[in-house]
Amino acid sequence: MAEEKYETHEYDVIVIGAGGAGLRAAVEASAQGVKTALVCKSLLGKAHTVMAEGGIAAAMGNVYPEDNWKVHFRDTMRGGKLLSNWRMAQIHAQESPDRVLELEEWGALFDRPKDGLILQRDFGGHRYARLAHVGDRTGLEMIRTLQQHAVHKGIDVYMECNLQRLLTDAGKISGAFGYWRESGKFILFKCKAVVLATGGGGKAWKVTSNSWEYTGDGVTMAADVGADLMDMEFMQFHPTGMVWPPSVRGILVTEGVRGDGGTLKNTKGERFMFNYIPEFFKVETAETEKEADAWYEDKKNRRTPDLLPRDEVARAINSEVKAGRGTEHGGVFLDIASRRSADYIQRRLPSMYHQFKELADVDITKEAMEVGPTCHYAMGGVRVDADTTAATVPGLFAAGEVAAGLHGANRLGGNSLSDLLVFGRRAGLYAAEYCKALKGALAVNTDQVNAFAREMLAPFESKGSENPYTIHADLQECMQDLVGIIRVESELKKALEIIQQLKQRTRNVKIEGNRQYNPGWHLALDLHSLLGFSEAATLAAIERKESRGGHTRDDYPNTDAKFAKVNVVVRKKNGEFALSQEPLPEMPDELKALLEEKK
Ligand code: FUM
Repeated sequence: MAEEKYETHEYDVIVIGAGGAGLRAAVEASAQGVKTALVCKSLLGKAHTVMAEGGIAAAMGNVYPEDNWKVHFRDTMRGGKLLSNWRMAQIHAQESPDRVLELEEWGALFDRPKDGLILQRDFGGHRYARLAHVGDRTGLEMIRTLQQHAVHKGIDVYMECNLQRLLTDAGKISGAFGYWRESGKFILFKCKAVVLATGGGGKAWKVTSNSWEYTGDGVTMAADVGADLMDMEFMQFHPTGMVWPPSVRGILVTEGVRGDGGTLKNTKGERFMFNYIPEFFKVETAETEKEADAWYEDKKNRRTPDLLPRDEVARAINSEVKAGRGTEHGGVFLDIASRRSADYIQRRLPSMYHQFKELADVDITKEAMEVGPTCHYAMGGVRVDADTTAATVPGLFAAGEVAAGLHGANRLGGNSLSDLLVFGRRAGLYAAEYCKALKGALAVNTDQVNAFAREMLAPFESKGSENPYTIHADLQECMQDLVGIIRVESELKKALEIIQQLKQRTRNVKIEGNRQYNPGWHLALDLHSLLGFSEAATLAAIERKESRGGHTRDDYPNTDAKFAKVNVVVRKKNGEFALSQEPLPEMPDELKALLEEKK
């Protein structure tokens, strides 16, 4: 094979991924005066960020003056089952309000009453209504605003450009390599720092809110250059995805529906969430329908259990369906029509109204929705420094879903958009500082790049007959059935075996045609990251022998004090994943005291 001359660009910082975290990082790095490029696999604006529909969590105190960063910190830690990195949770709670106001300054149009401050809505696990929102299209508005801001700042954007491998020089990041989706031609970036903002790997599961881009690229690229991964066992299954018709299964139904008054019911018409209130949350959760209904009216009482954290609600729905109290399509009902007027629903939840009308022929102002859990978010990812977002490889930074730490064992709804803004900004800032402080020139190893190119073209030369779509479908089946909401050791081990077999089969993938816009080839290349992500998640799930947050083990149904003190860390050694349990950073006493407060 003749060696190709690669299109080559040189920057200080390359940001990979153009969702909320990537855009915010690029804006910040560029503002710090370093040469920055934003590279995205899809079109600009097409990001999982838009799936955070209901709002940005920030303790602005607009609706409840008693809200403040300390309560938000406490809620995040408790939602994360005390496994969140305390420093990240503190920074996040302290900085979110400023990031929301900044977004508004940059043009975001938040909902507010005629004469008032930005409105804030209720979401699960948040003590007070604190989600700043734009109807049920908050993520979309955030992306629109950041995108315009980035484009006006003149940041170079490479769209439909899929970076697949990171390059290193003497252990430091020195570039990234990938291809243009349209032409199939390779592209090489030389740089001093990379910010990963590639999101998660939810496309490894069958029922998912994630779109085609979410194949675990950042996690796998980072692991391939030796960076630590952490908390990979924790996957969030959002309690409410669409379940019917089959073509739309998994599409998100915002938690805003429950925040605005929707209640979950089984096929017997029972509000079953009252049967699933864990001890941990009893102090703040209404235990009778009467008490919960009063909360909807004046918000002075204990909150409805429909708004428990997502892990609790997803598990409860799963149990109801298993007990035979689910719908014929394997879901439960979510009813807002009984509580709110058609006008209210259409004003507050316009996308949900249209989504159900267009896709399921259901009028949510009159009928209940059919919903069930959908794979939504990876709490685990690249291990980062809490203040700087630096990964364990020099020159590598990570922010947003691809990074681990803030959300611990379970993320609270709305904490993702604020995470993207807070840590996206920090990633851009500290990547720029790193570039400025870097001494000496970095080299790109041409042999390494040529080897990557050969690897990536191998499916065209293959003598095998495997189809990448079949392998992907088999992986999704495996992760859905064996590494889902409820897990057990024998099934996790079976999943690991299947993943190894799929890795073997991937070597025999045969791609027909040429490199120009060839989706089969693109998927064949994405299998590397899908399988890397899945393997790390499964290994970590085997290691954590307890149930906590987004990791429920049928064979270890309780939390275990030993595991309350550790993160499971996964890192590659000689091409294989190795596991370790590492102690959580020690929390200062004044923050510990906040966690003990009852209210
Ligand atoms: O339900 C939602 O609107 C999703 C929000 C989130 O994931 O933060």
